[in-house]
Amino acid sequence: MDKKISSSDKVFSASHVAPSPALSLNKLNAGYKERQVLFNINAVFYKNKITSILGPSGCGKSTLISVCNRTLELIPGAGVISGNVFLNGNDIYDTAASAQLIRKKIGIIFQHPITFPASIVENVLFGAVYHQKLTRQERLDYARHHLGIVGLETELINRLHEPAHKLSGGQRQRLCLARTLANQPEIILMDEPCSALDPSAMRHIEELIKTLSKTYTIIIVTHNIAQARRISDYTIVMTNGRIIEQDQTTKIFEKPKRKQTHEFIEGLIG
Ligand SMILES: Nc1ncnc2c1ncn2[C@@H]1O[C@H](COP(=O)(O)OP(=O)(O)OP(=O)(O)O)[C@@H](O)[C@H]1O
Ligand SMILES: [Mg+2]
Repeated sequence: MDKKISSSDKVFSASHVAPSPALSLNKLNAGYKERQVLFNINAVFYKNKITSILGPSGCGKSTLISVCNRTLELIPGAGVISGNVFLNGNDIYDTAASAQLIRKKIGIIFQHPITFPASIVENVLFGAVYHQKLTRQERLDYARHHLGIVGLETELINRLHEPAHKLSGGQRQRLCLARTLANQPEIILMDEPCSALDPSAMRHIEELIKTLSKTYTIIIVTHNIAQARRISDYTIVMTNGRIIEQDQTTKIFEKPKRKQTHEFIEGLIG
């Protein structure tokens, strides 16, 4: 656990003074049983910044974020082939690293939000209860506090003990975010967190993500190019399992270095 972050910060413009890295991927190759889907990925995600990952459907965005907290290996036959992922300088794939602890430190909200067959409150507390010794009242207060952060507490005040499966898709997505926050992560990975939301709810989540970035490092996969431009500090553009460009969001949108980046942003590919 003593490997240090590689110098892959060079991927960004020389004039840019980058903040400290929270997570960095070094020469990473990964895939599923049948095929490799990520090729030589070098990426840096900075502390308390929002990084968007953009790219055509099937290019490997969800796979990329699932290698960031060791959830890819939960799929039989899937995993990292070679390379490193450093969290605060330590390789999360080191044999001494605990995958369970890494998943607590780096929370993920999946593309299709998963709720457990339990009440709304129990869903928020899932994981948090495991890590903390709380009394019954403290558990309820803790759950309500986190539901409040994602704007669900008032909305669901009389339904806190109802089964979570009764919630709408957008509500479930916010519930999953509340559950992730209740686990007190350092980094939050979000896979299309606004896909089930109407424009007003989407704006609410975008504001929330910006606020959360003061406390957490945020990595967000999105198909919404305008959203990436609105909320992220850094942007990564991928095609066919490779990163084609990564930089400050303003540079990616105003002065992309690669023709493919320009074409993707203009909607010509993908
Ligand atoms: N469980 C799996 N088993 C085998 N192949 C998979 C699995 N999940 C994804 N893949 C394949 O890996 C490649 C990358 O998929 P991934 O889900 O990472 O893409 P994506 O960029 O997130 O796409 P989208 O924008 O549609 O969500 C695709 O070719 C996909 O078919
Ligand atoms: Mg995906």
